[in-house]
Amino acid sequence: MHRLSRRAVLAGGLAASASFARAVPLLAANQAERSLRDIASARGIRYGSAAMASQLLAGDSFTELLIREVAALVPENEMKWLHMSTAPLQSDYRMADCLVDFAVAHGLLCRGHNLLWYWSTPKWFKELSDRATARTAMLRRVTGMVSRYRGRIDSWDVVNEPVDPGDDRADHLRADVFLKQVGPEYLSLAYTAARAADPEARLVLNECGVEYDTPDMDRKRGAVLDLLEDMRKRHVPIDALGIQAHLSVGRYPFSEQKLRDYLKRAAAMGLEIQITELDCTDELAPPDIPARDRLVADEYRRFLDVALDEPAVKIVMSWGLSDRYSWIVRHENNAEERRPDGTEERPLPFDRDLQRKPAWHALAEAFAGAPARGRAPRREHSTADEG
Ligand code: XIL
Repeated sequence: MHRLSRRAVLAGGLAASASFARAVPLLAANQAERSLRDIASARGIRYGSAAMASQLLAGDSFTELLIREVAALVPENEMKWLHMSTAPLQSDYRMADCLVDFAVAHGLLCRGHNLLWYWSTPKWFKELSDRATARTAMLRRVTGMVSRYRGRIDSWDVVNEPVDPGDDRADHLRADVFLKQVGPEYLSLAYTAARAADPEARLVLNECGVEYDTPDMDRKRGAVLDLLEDMRKRHVPIDALGIQAHLSVGRYPFSEQKLRDYLKRAAAMGLEIQITELDCTDELAPPDIPARDRLVADEYRRFLDVALDEPAVKIVMSWGLSDRYSWIVRHENNAEERRPDGTEERPLPFDRDLQRKPAWHALAEAFAGAPARGRAPRREHSTADEG
């Protein structure tokens, strides 16, 4: 039996306090048949996952699990610029199309990830030698993607990880390839072009490294909020803040208050908040699997209990659904986040054999205990809204 979260009890309100003993088995019985998709949807939260085209095309038991458990899909790699383009004026949309078509065919909301990310930028773009050409190439990328999928993407990560306070710039921008090739105006150019290409898609700024209580993450949170405020002031079209939420067991201290304040300040700017890449490394947890799975579940629960208390959080995406398909298990993440004992990491809600883990129950309980919220299916816009 899993602990009923504090908020689940609060959300149950009077009914729960009248008969707390009854509330526990009720929740558990519901969870036995329901999917994360349904439990989250009942609170107005869209739950989804990253996936790869190959996983959808397989049409196997994993594909079935995905269709059952998620209301939203995001391509793990297939929309990244580096994956799509090997030369100027050349783009291969086939894999990205496959994911978007699958989402539409199954009535799933689709996130676009991502238009610009310094980590996944084609070599040819990095080598362009003048600003005007680079600016044109960047805008062609943004407009090409957003207009191709116009009407089918709920939200776009327009720029992924643009902030790095470590680079010591007053505007907090990461000194990356876009800054070098286009200049600091790349950010507003990209968001403006995306808005023009699909006025109803939500435009997101997606960031990592803001979840815990360390001096670096304090700085990062401050820098992201400053940047968002500045974008607001300059009427740069932006609708949402993305929080990647790559969690780790036992690596960093956590401050409920600091996370809460961060979310509140973003929400106060009128921004939606999306948890975009939720997963959890377990390299510091013991080898014993039940103990490890419990620690991973606790980490999810602690984070989500705070995050979902903020009604501006409308979407939660796992970065993969089953340990069978995780960048952590494939060791594509930081080397320091791999298990030293060589056993396989267990970061996601389902295990390799597609069985629910304690992490699944942690997500289910967090969703069940979250305050209800509403959300329009696509961004509501007026032609005058960008000032
Ligand atoms: C990762 C993918 O999961 C890997 O398969 C790939 O090798 C590298 O990128 N932040 C992001 C995601 O915004 O796009 C990254 O995805 C994980 C970190």
